[in-house]
Amino acid sequence: MARRRRILLGVSGGIAAYKALELVRLATAAGHAVRVVQTPASQRFIGAASFAALTGAPVLVDEFERDPARGAFPGDPQPDHDPLSHLELAANADIYVIAPASANTVAKLAAGLADNLLTSAALAATCPLLVAPAMNNHMWAHPATQDNVALLRARGVTVLEPPTGRLASTGEQGAGRLPEPRALLEAVEALTRPPLAAPSADLVGLRVLVTAGGTREPIDAVRFVGNRSSGRMGFALAAAAADLGAAVTVVAANVALPRDPRVAYVDVETAAELQDACAAAFGEADVLLMAAAVADFRPAASLAGKLKKAGEERLRVELERTPDILTGLAAVRRPDQTLVGFAAEHGDGALAYAREKLAHKGLDAIVVNDVARADIGFDAVHNEVTILTAGGETHVARASKAHVARAVLDVVAGLREPTAEAAGPAS
Ligand code: CTP
Repeated sequence: MARRRRILLGVSGGIAAYKALELVRLATAAGHAVRVVQTPASQRFIGAASFAALTGAPVLVDEFERDPARGAFPGDPQPDHDPLSHLELAANADIYVIAPASANTVAKLAAGLADNLLTSAALAATCPLLVAPAMNNHMWAHPATQDNVALLRARGVTVLEPPTGRLASTGEQGAGRLPEPRALLEAVEALTRPPLAAPSADLVGLRVLVTAGGTREPIDAVRFVGNRSSGRMGFALAAAAADLGAAVTVVAANVALPRDPRVAYVDVETAAELQDACAAAFGEADVLLMAAAVADFRPAASLAGKLKKAGEERLRVELERTPDILTGLAAVRRPDQTLVGFAAEHGDGALAYAREKLAHKGLDAIVVNDVARADIGFDAVHNEVTILTAGGETHVARASKAHVARAVLDVVAGLREPTAEAAGPAS
């Protein structure tokens, strides 16, 4: 079972409070200990009894309320003394998650106000703080909210980007939803994860540029040609590189996964935008990990408005080749840069084909996976790859993407070690 975390969950007022119940259910099922504090407004949406039943612990709302559990998390011994609840709960937590965070709560957190138990605990907490805003799309887009979010992020708080979708309050589409409970739990576990086993390779002082996700090429104002890449592999590479001490930038093409506070992100949509972002960052990079699924073709012309069906039975969309970004970067590389490509191959001959790609794209390594299998690769949690270099081949058996990422970085570190020849004259 995963390592048990003590999760303090702050629930503020909003229709999305019901999703916090599901988060608690998933977190306790995964073996974590959860305590909940609520704002008074949140109780209009979900009562304390529901959270108490799911956590098996009292729920607190008022700063001056006695905590019958004396600040202890379920499964932990209760102290002899009767501590101040907001300080004790925050002190014992491994992470403080505020989900949903209303616009009002986000503003209070940014201002450092402590006018209820939830906000007081946020000031008292020394553990990582994860804020998942959920609100009406206009409230989210308001410069006041955006400034508050930027301020919190600058202070090291992880503020999740609300996904776009149907909003309960307005019936409209827009940004402002609470991420799905499963994604919230993933973010919690990622933020409280100890680094993987002791580093077997060191990337301290190196600048690593990672591309992640899949590009979207517009057909018209609302439609696109895309692919199924989720960005999980690229984000796992970024986290593993940060664990090993690298300064990491991710060019993220349409990735809806939680962000790592140690990583800088540049968000893009199309292959052309990804190319521009890579061109801007490549000169500074020591290592390029090109994990994004870049469209090989894009609509030759994209319509500014929305394409109408107007009695047509067939529609032809003409596609044109996109530039091969990786090959373009390889053409202007410095010898001290390390370039890693990724190849999604199908079935037999995959390795031979990938080895050919390694050579003609001018790469130092290529990571090959077999997209014929449903249990690994695109949008899956696991992967199984073979890493090819000019002189070697490393097979990584089916494992989490974090583990696969680490194996890729071990190969990168090996490639960057000075060879005996380069290190000194041969005897
Ligand atoms: N790539 C790129 N620019 C493109 C297409 C792909 O930089 N326009 C990069 C990918 O990020 C990946 C590698 O090239 O690192 C994949 O190589 P590619 O030859 O495009 O692979 P596939 O599209 O999977 O294969 P094929 O050409 O065999 O269809």
